[in-house]
Amino acid sequence: GKGEYDHFMLKEIHEQPTALAQAIEGRIDPENGRIALEDFPPGTFDGVENVQLIACGTSYHAALYGSVALNQAGIHATALLANEYSVTAPPVDDDTLVIAVTQSGETADTLSALRQATAAGADTLTVTNVVGSTAAREADDTLFIRAGPEIGVAATKTFSSQAVMLTLLAQRIAADARDETPADLQSLLPDLAQMPGQLEDLLATDDAAHIASQYQGSQSYFFIGRGLGYPVALEGALKFKEITYEHAEGFASGELKHGPLALVTPDTPVFAVFTGEEDEKTLKNAEEAQTRGAPVIAVCPEGHRAAEVADEHLEIPDADDELAGLLANVQLQLVSYHAAELLDRPIDKPRNLAKSVTVE
Ligand code: M6R
Repeated sequence: GKGEYDHFMLKEIHEQPTALAQAIEGRIDPENGRIALEDFPPGTFDGVENVQLIACGTSYHAALYGSVALNQAGIHATALLANEYSVTAPPVDDDTLVIAVTQSGETADTLSALRQATAAGADTLTVTNVVGSTAAREADDTLFIRAGPEIGVAATKTFSSQAVMLTLLAQRIAADARDETPADLQSLLPDLAQMPGQLEDLLATDDAAHIASQYQGSQSYFFIGRGLGYPVALEGALKFKEITYEHAEGFASGELKHGPLALVTPDTPVFAVFTGEEDEKTLKNAEEAQTRGAPVIAVCPEGHRAAEVADEHLEIPDADDELAGLLANVQLQLVSYHAAELLDRPIDKPRNLAKSVTVE
């Protein structure tokens, strides 16, 4: 049941510290800078030169997060919408690994892309929450995110767990390909180990409700981010539209000036995600919106310059650049939840949507 919570979505948002602890349990060794993924002994990903991640919806945003992490780790990677894969799939060869990212493991679009990749001769791996699901059974290998059951139609804890697993996987693939432990792990793994505790603090001081009420009734809601903050911006907007029924869109920060800026007015709050990746550029992009009268809400660590410049800010704990976006995403989940609550929406079962989309 929902226990003390009004909705499964809020319960599942609050389950994220536990979900993440479960995802990383036994898989990271911060002292020695090692990642141990059960079915994948060191060297498993030796020959991987190219990774295609296929997924839909929120899982696509996690896949995009994973592709950014892979590219930043020096591995060629592309995130692809599974429903576009049948017409736009880049070629695969012996060195290609195709990763299906799907919470349920039953999404028809993703299964069909997975089958196409298998037929083309790619090695396949499924990252999923559901043991025994079709995608888990059909791929060569599986990595379970161990988030526990997710009932709310809006995916929350599974996004965080998928993104964390893909971050680990990116480092492992890079380590195998280069035959050395990436230096990044020295700061990433300890920060990852303390993330469940940081999330607990963030959730205990939920201050997203006042942001939601302050901007209630706006015309549109925009979300911007760069690097790993870009998939977070897309996910922030998807969650917002899904449960509030208000118009929301996510953009790469630098894209705002290439068109969307025409929509920016005092009636379009802009949520800006700061992940430590060229933050000064993102801040400049946010200020361009502010100049057109839009209120800017910065999602950033304490003492960040963006907090001074922005009209409002939501604080995230200090973390490695590779994890900051996931903390920011939790703040955005809370904003969406509270905005939907104010509008009295059926948060756990938004109109027209199903938890698992089993048709193409
Ligand atoms: O089960 P999957 O992860 O494959 O589902 C993919 C999408 O249908 C899903 O993430 C959808 O976008 C969510 N309702 C978003 O909250």
